[in-house]
Amino acid sequence: MIIEAIFSTLNREGSPNFAPMGVVWGEERVTVRPFRQTQTYENLVASGYGVVSLTDNVRAFVQCGLYHVVLPHFTASQVPGVVYQEACAWRELQVISQAGDEQRAEVHCRVVEKGRRRDFLGFCRARSAVLEAAILATRLNLYDADWIAAMLDHYETIVEKTGDENERLAFQEIRAFIRR
Ligand SMILES: Cc1cc2nc3c(=O)[nH]c(=O)nc-3n(C[C@H](O)[C@H](O)[C@H](O)COP(=O)(O)O)c2cc1C
Repeated sequence: MIIEAIFSTLNREGSPNFAPMGVVWGEERVTVRPFRQTQTYENLVASGYGVVSLTDNVRAFVQCGLYHVVLPHFTASQVPGVVYQEACAWRELQVISQAGDEQRAEVHCRVVEKGRRRDFLGFCRARSAVLEAAILATRLNLYDADWIAAMLDHYETIVEKTGDENERLAFQEIRAFIRR
């Protein structure tokens, strides 16, 4: 199963980078599939370490995925890296091998440490809609403009009906990104 998470790595100077990544979840192993042009891929392979944070704050996905915001964080305990401050739970990872194709890597990691801060609230349609819209915004070149516009209207209705202020703000940020 693929779980959408906030993935953090350190760049060569030691400063943190955050990006949403879908990871293949496991208790002992986690696999991440970054495109080769991402900073995440470069950092992960250069440093050999990463941290995967699970959160219900979907605005964080928009902020780091579309606007490259360095999210609030604290230092990981067993690997060189950082944990997203609003993580419900996290895994500290060490790279063990990599595969993949020309475009997309498949990086297999060993779970070195596990942490937990708070409960993960149940499913919320508005949060799922924000995630889907954010993924769409990172893949604009793959889809037809009319289809994107229709999907965004559909997601926005769900956000308006079932979300809170945080989800509405996240959705506005996605709209602003796409307009640009
Ligand atoms: C929910 C979600 C899941 C994503 N999953 C992946 C993924 O598995 N692999 C990937 O390369 N990009 C994925 N992306 C897109 C990256 O997060 C995005 O391209 C980001 O800007 C990469 O940042 P970086 O260059 O700092 O690593 C995802 C985006 C979202 C919103």
